[in-house]
Amino acid sequence: MAYPRLFEPFQIGNLHLKNRVAMAPMETHLGEPDGAVNKEVIAYYRERALGGAGLILVEFTCVDGSDGFSSNVPQLRLDNDRFKAGHAKLVGAIKSGGAKAVVQLSHAGRQTKESVIGKTPVSSSAVPLNSIYMSAVPRALEDHEIRRIIASYANAARLAMLAGYDGVMLHGAHGYLLQQFLSPLVNKRDDEWGGDFERRLRFPLEVIKAVKAQLGDKPLLYRLSVLDGIEGGLTIEDSEHIAPRLCEAGVDAIDISWGSLDRADIILEPMSVPEGDRLPYARRIRHATGKPVICAGVMRWPDKSEQAIIDGDTDMVSLGRTLLADPMWPIKAQRGQVDQIRPCTSCNWCIRELAQSRSVACAENPRCGRETEPEIGTYGAGLRAAVVGGGPGGMAAALMLDQAGFDVTLYEKRQRLGGNLITSAIPPGKDKLFWYHEFLVRRIEQSKINVRTGTKVEPDMLRADLPDVVILAGGSRLAPLDLADSGGLPTAPAYEALIDEITLPRSSAERPILIYGGGETGTETAEHLAKHGHHVLLVTRSDAKFLARNAEALYRIHLLQRLWANEAIRILDHTKLHSVDSELVTLACEGKLIQQPAAAVLFAHGLVPDTELAESMRGIDVPLFSIGDAAQVARIGEAVHDAYRAVQDLRRLILQPEPVAC
Ligand SMILES: Cc1cc2nc3c(=O)[nH]c(=O)nc-3n(C[C@H](O)[C@H](O)[C@H](O)COP(=O)(O)O)c2cc1C
Ligand code: SF4
Repeated sequence: MAYPRLFEPFQIGNLHLKNRVAMAPMETHLGEPDGAVNKEVIAYYRERALGGAGLILVEFTCVDGSDGFSSNVPQLRLDNDRFKAGHAKLVGAIKSGGAKAVVQLSHAGRQTKESVIGKTPVSSSAVPLNSIYMSAVPRALEDHEIRRIIASYANAARLAMLAGYDGVMLHGAHGYLLQQFLSPLVNKRDDEWGGDFERRLRFPLEVIKAVKAQLGDKPLLYRLSVLDGIEGGLTIEDSEHIAPRLCEAGVDAIDISWGSLDRADIILEPMSVPEGDRLPYARRIRHATGKPVICAGVMRWPDKSEQAIIDGDTDMVSLGRTLLADPMWPIKAQRGQVDQIRPCTSCNWCIRELAQSRSVACAENPRCGRETEPEIGTYGAGLRAAVVGGGPGGMAAALMLDQAGFDVTLYEKRQRLGGNLITSAIPPGKDKLFWYHEFLVRRIEQSKINVRTGTKVEPDMLRADLPDVVILAGGSRLAPLDLADSGGLPTAPAYEALIDEITLPRSSAERPILIYGGGETGTETAEHLAKHGHHVLLVTRSDAKFLARNAEALYRIHLLQRLWANEAIRILDHTKLHSVDSELVTLACEGKLIQQPAAAVLFAHGLVPDTELAESMRGIDVPLFSIGDAAQVARIGEAVHDAYRAVQDLRRLILQPEPVAC
């Protein structure tokens, strides 16, 4: 067995676990509109239990539907007997998958909206929330309401026991109600429930007491944000005093997290954050309490997880997005099949889906959240498929078609597979995308796919030897640009500079490389070039506050901080590129034309789908799908999901299953 420490049995209280791998609690929004568990929720968790995690921590589950939901998309709840049966089925599915089940009991407090709960949000005090995801002006809870919520936690714990859960976790992290009482930034009371350290601690301690009384001999886990990450908020030193008190009151294990919605960028570490960033904090809480700790946060590879256990940083490793991308991670790790793990890149496409009120999904794993859909099957045996374009969508399509039994040819005009997966991986802090690139390439090498790199597909080529299916995944091209004049200076699309397809001349502060376009590509190219010693002038038509506006929100926070601090990058906003000549560019800014010396001009003003091949193939007599940027310029997740939908649509088209037999 590989990774013997990670996969050795472990115990929390008297709960025996087959290994030290937990699935982190993650909202799915898959449930019924009223918060009931349904077959989609069950299938999603069952798949992850079958994947080998010893402990499944079931997501945010609301203890009081009157004011405790954080979102108006379906969140699970356990505040009424009628929700018990669904949870019992869920527990049954998790256990039959070989894991133990613990549910996370939660109350949002102020981290909600009036439109969600139909009334003013409640909190320890009336301290407003202003996060990138929501704003709220709460009111302070009255004493009797605090006692009502404590009773709600106890009631939910009672229902959890009746449903068969192996234990309960209190969601004391991420800025939800328990943390709102602990944090001096939010709790401004001066009564029994706040005023100093002891009184801020009272609400969590009372909740622990009430919940513990319902659990019999089952364990109580507590997810603690060990710091707020904001000046004047909770610190790790505070938590070294808080955590032992929680344990004295009855907590059997602490799950280490941090932040609140004010610092969502630490709760959901974006791509630039290295693996295992919370481990030093887990170690401190482990020493402070002497109780088991569980630690999530960018644990992506079994080596890191095993080492964290060996080093005594944590007792258990908790995998969040890691298991969205690959539910089979634990089994693959245990079998030593690390190169088969589909690696989460922390791209946070999943978070964007949730933030846009959709259910859980993963950019790389199109079946995440769709576990009840029919499997791809082997409907393509004896048929030929051509996939044009070897970017992420094309590679994913080719792999799924190969899985379906097609004889697949994958064409790529460049010498290397990867397309925009490579250009996206090159800028600083994005190298995790190479993990995914390597995974796809490895899978393709292990498949029967016939790869033809360095091949530009012409319509006649396809027509001459028409396959049974064509997938067009050729990506995008630069949007047309209306330049008054152009010539002399080297110009190229910014992505060509990222993949070294052009050699840039030397630049200086006086004669910088001009990048035209302040979107994600422009800003990232600026950072990349600055890292390689260039001076950059980033020109954007919009206001500078909109730089990289389509980038993933949490990654963008870090990107912009770095950009503003980078002395090699100058930003010129509200400015249009007017013309380019041999030495200078002319810029139009606030009605005036300015001349600017430049060493080269890189275009990052926008992309449009490259539809040329699709248009010339119109009318062919085989199913043809345009996917990814070739259909609509978007992100890697959209390209992979387009590929999945095309392969599923083909299954229906080819098999033509009758919807009903009667
Ligand atoms: C889609 C999604 C939903 C989440 N929902 C919850 C939740 O319900 N409760 C919670 O404590 N943390 C939640 N988290 C945070 C995770 O539990 C975990 O701490 C975080 O994602 C970092 O671990 P990772 O890098 O393995 O993803 C969520 C994370 C994601 C990605
Ligand atoms: S969408 Fe991105 S961050 Fe989320 S689980 Fe998938 S790979 Fe990881």
